[in-house]
Amino acid sequence: MDLVMGSVLILTCLLLFSYWKRSCKRGKLPPGPTPLPIIGNIHQIDVKNVHQAFTNFSKIYGPVFTLYFGMKPTVVLHGYEAIKEALIGHGEEFSGRGSAPIFQMISKDLGIGFSNGNAWKETRHFSLLTLRKLGVGKRSIENQIQEEAQFLVEELKKTNGSPYDPSFILTCAPCNVICAIIFQNRLEYNDQGFVNLVEKLNANSKILSSLWLQENHNQQSIYTRENLIATLNDLFVGGTDTLKTTMRFALLLLLKYPHVTAKVQEEIDRVIGRQRSPCLQDRKQMPYTDAVIHEVQRFIDIAPNSLPHEVTCDVKFRNYLIPKGTAIVTSLSSVLYDSNEFPNPETFDPGHFLDAKGNFKKSDYFMPFSAGKRVCLGEGLARMELFLFLTTILQNFKLKSLVPPKDINDTPQANVISVSPPPFQLCFIPL
Ligand code: HEM
Ligand SMILES: *[C@@H]1O[C@H](CO)[C@@H](O)[C@H](O)[C@H]1NC(C)=O
Repeated sequence: MDLVMGSVLILTCLLLFSYWKRSCKRGKLPPGPTPLPIIGNIHQIDVKNVHQAFTNFSKIYGPVFTLYFGMKPTVVLHGYEAIKEALIGHGEEFSGRGSAPIFQMISKDLGIGFSNGNAWKETRHFSLLTLRKLGVGKRSIENQIQEEAQFLVEELKKTNGSPYDPSFILTCAPCNVICAIIFQNRLEYNDQGFVNLVEKLNANSKILSSLWLQENHNQQSIYTRENLIATLNDLFVGGTDTLKTTMRFALLLLLKYPHVTAKVQEEIDRVIGRQRSPCLQDRKQMPYTDAVIHEVQRFIDIAPNSLPHEVTCDVKFRNYLIPKGTAIVTSLSSVLYDSNEFPNPETFDPGHFLDAKGNFKKSDYFMPFSAGKRVCLGEGLARMELFLFLTTILQNFKLKSLVPPKDINDTPQANVISVSPPPFQLCFIPL
């Protein structure tokens, strides 16, 4: 009996002590719901509806609040103003990459996406320069994407208008664009290389290795083979699934809203016609199509909470002091679904990016690629691909749904990290 009482007493003291210690630290952190010992606030967050949970907290605690995932405090930035102030106004301080154990297992802090400090800066800088150099090699990136778009069309023609799930080739196409940029050649869609791309990566990395080793005059070198592989890996991982998911979702939305598709195809007919391939120049004259692609990216909200950040030093932010290394979560959903900027944000409506005259209307709230120093490295490339792939497909095919459009479920299925549409098939009927 005494033993039990003793244990209970000790445990209570420990809990009180941890609460007290935490509330001392919390003094400087933004407000938030009171965490329980050990689990923190996890029990208060509905993982199936993180966006709504964050919105609820922001109503109580304001746009900058603290949640504990376990014992670890995480500062959540909610809404355009707070996110802009942090990622742009305090760009350097908020540019750290938060550590998620799973990411460290994969990349060991190398590469671009999950590295930090000088190694990150140099690797990111070098990659951008190199991509630019390679992209303006023999053929421009635009030509390479156009060529890939034609391969996509050829592959879709082979389906003879029968029901087809395009997930696989929509993975191959963006993957090939990166192959084409880095290795100067593409892979056939049935190439074994796609089954084991990593091997290919290892073999082909010699090409980049040479570029890499030219640069190898730096003291504390980032130009190691491991870092090169990790960097290439980041480009493939970052640039393949995101594109596939966005393209699949775009097709699903085009099936669900045939009047939107008809307007895009009318614009394609008028501006491009059937005789030549779409090119990036066309985009300026295609405000409706441009708006549709923006609206797809806004609506699907592919990275609801971006990737985790952390602050690189102690930061004074608004009236708070956020200690170095504190995890930062930016709720991109809260920006993309802002109901003042985008009335009825839950509705798919290209009008969100059009003015009264039908001109394209730019919005600073368009942040699917995040913003600031960690902004998606592939933003430019991704936007070229989305435009060229979609217009080329719609120039060549009528999309036919297997179920009545009104029965298509277009609600983004979000989890904590990413979003995907349900599996579906459609028919590509040649025009
Ligand atoms: C629709 C397509 C895409 C979307 C929506 C997207 C979105 C994002 C987001 C939200 C981030 C995190 C930014 C942050 O931490 O603040 C990111 C990072 C990144 N993306 Fe993308 N991305 C896309 C396509 C691509 C492509 C095509 C590439 C390849 C060239 C790419 C390469 C990367 C890399 C390397 C990072 C890490 C940057 C860093 O940590 O410095 N992404 N992307
Ligand atoms: C948000 O708040 C509303 C109203 O208070 C509540 O009904 C809902 O369950 C909350 N949602 C989440 C995900 O916490």
